[in-house]
Amino acid sequence: MADLIPRHFIDDLLVRIDLVDLIDSHVPLKKSGSHYTALCPFHNEKSPSFSVNRKKQFFHCFGCGASGNAITFLMDYSHLAFVEAIEELAAFIGIDVPREQSTYTAQAKPDNLKDLYLLLEAVAKFYAKQLKTNPEAQQTVEYLKHRGVSGIIARDFMLGYAPDTWDELTKHFNKKLLLDAGLLSQKEGSNNSYDRFRGRLMFPIRDKRGRILGFGARVLDNSLPKYLNSPETAIFSKGNEVYGLCELLQKNGKPERILIVEGYMDVIALAQFGISYAVATLGTATSKIHLDILFRFASELILCFDGDDAGRKAAWRAVEAAMPSLKEGRQIKIMLLPQGEDPDSLIRQEGLEIFSKRIISTQMLSDYFFEHLTKNLKLATIEGSSKLVNVALPHLQQLPEGVFKKMMLARLQKLADLSTQQLTESLENSKKLATLKTNKHRSLKGLNGKPSLARSTIALLLQNPELTGILIKEIPHWDEFEFPGLDVLKNILRTIVKNKPSNMGALIECYRDTDKYKMINTLAAYNLELDTASKEIIEKTFSDGINKLIKQAKDILLTHLLVKENSHSLNTEEKDIFNILIKTLK
Ligand code: UTP
Ligand code: MN
Repeated sequence: MADLIPRHFIDDLLVRIDLVDLIDSHVPLKKSGSHYTALCPFHNEKSPSFSVNRKKQFFHCFGCGASGNAITFLMDYSHLAFVEAIEELAAFIGIDVPREQSTYTAQAKPDNLKDLYLLLEAVAKFYAKQLKTNPEAQQTVEYLKHRGVSGIIARDFMLGYAPDTWDELTKHFNKKLLLDAGLLSQKEGSNNSYDRFRGRLMFPIRDKRGRILGFGARVLDNSLPKYLNSPETAIFSKGNEVYGLCELLQKNGKPERILIVEGYMDVIALAQFGISYAVATLGTATSKIHLDILFRFASELILCFDGDDAGRKAAWRAVEAAMPSLKEGRQIKIMLLPQGEDPDSLIRQEGLEIFSKRIISTQMLSDYFFEHLTKNLKLATIEGSSKLVNVALPHLQQLPEGVFKKMMLARLQKLADLSTQQLTESLENSKKLATLKTNKHRSLKGLNGKPSLARSTIALLLQNPELTGILIKEIPHWDEFEFPGLDVLKNILRTIVKNKPSNMGALIECYRDTDKYKMINTLAAYNLELDTASKEIIEKTFSDGINKLIKQAKDILLTHLLVKENSHSLNTEEKDIFNILIKTLK
């Protein structure tokens, strides 16, 4: 877990950075009216649809839908993680990033993290030395030879041997650090601790910068568990790491493709045979986190699975997880191996050449997707094709906007033999369902996909945080009313009052990592055609919008009370409201 960067620093940074300067230093911008334009760096295009707005500190591409603030730009453009993007922004204006201790993870003491990395490095070296020099390790050396692992590969992957004793590490290293690094086991409530890894072949797990985070450890016989892994620690979380990435990047910082396999030994065997672009998940399912990490380094990922039932299930789960990550220019392929084989066993049997052909000719995600979904359907029947539409659309809906999504939808249309109108209607229905399912907020979409009054009014506030002043004056009793989007409006208002963002870029930053981020970004990118309007016009449009919404809300409330009055009688409080409404709505 990294140290926390103070929130106020990030806010400050977003005030001091000018997004136009920042983007211009990567992608030359041209001034065009109130904004700046360029050919979009996130997809291929011939005429510019990428636009940067200085006042809002926000970029948006009308072609592929990419959008965000300065942090998002660097994350996407330079393939950086969040913290790296902050560091880069700070460097851009020549200041240091301060750190503060996380209040959530008492486990992580920032001053001790450096020591943890140093310790893990020293322990990995210790294990590697044991493999070379400890007579007890002879059996392990034989085992590696037997599996065809050379000395060079053992060195590249820093393989080691953990002696078969209970207290080897404490003889050489600091006990407190060993405990923090997960290298000792300790029964709860007891002070007795002992070496977690004993008599095992050790695989150090490194991050992309080469720092050792933990270990995987294999037995040399058939005893169980076959592998032990480091537990979660302040610096190691197995769902967030992939095995072999550091070794891959050492060989090639810009690989054309990355092959994702399941086992430590698969990565090693493939490297042994000259395929040095394989990585493995650490015994967990391939997730969006893994894919997003790897897409920072290569635009093509090949997911490799055993061809048995479990492998097929894992492949489909990975495809589902991959949908939201499939931005323009990114590609995923699915490789199913013959049943019972893993890449290690297969490449040994058939050699590099045939195995490489498998990789090259492996199935594109798009083909796999439709093949998987149509396998048991009779598409010539109405039942079959409507079932396909119903199961495919929720997945396709998750694809980022762009050419790939359009083509996948076109393929669905063809397969299910839909007219364009039928497809559009199914899309609308599926979108509505998705909003109902995942979003407790009322839908903000108006009829025919046109933005509703609520939507455009909320977008106006988001894009002009200074309008908050009006809102506080205009709505004295808004708790009594309901209109679609009111909760979003209140949420944005609260965020503005609390964080006082100086522009829209800073405001949307408050939503990163929340379930509202996507919706907020969509609202932020919405073109209200008011970019050149005067302050007065913007204020007037906004208060008109709010007043109309309140009027609508009052109408709804009044109707509701009238209906209730007809069936049961109103209580005193409801009567009061009713009387006020009747007066004000005249
Ligand atoms: P495999 O059983 O396929 O291992 O598990 P492997 O790497 O091919 O090893 P060999 O060929 O038998 O030597 C795949 C991955 O699942 C995790 C490990 O990350 C392993 O590499 N795993 C497996 C565990 O964490 N614990 C286990 O007991 C087994
Ligand atoms: Mn294996």
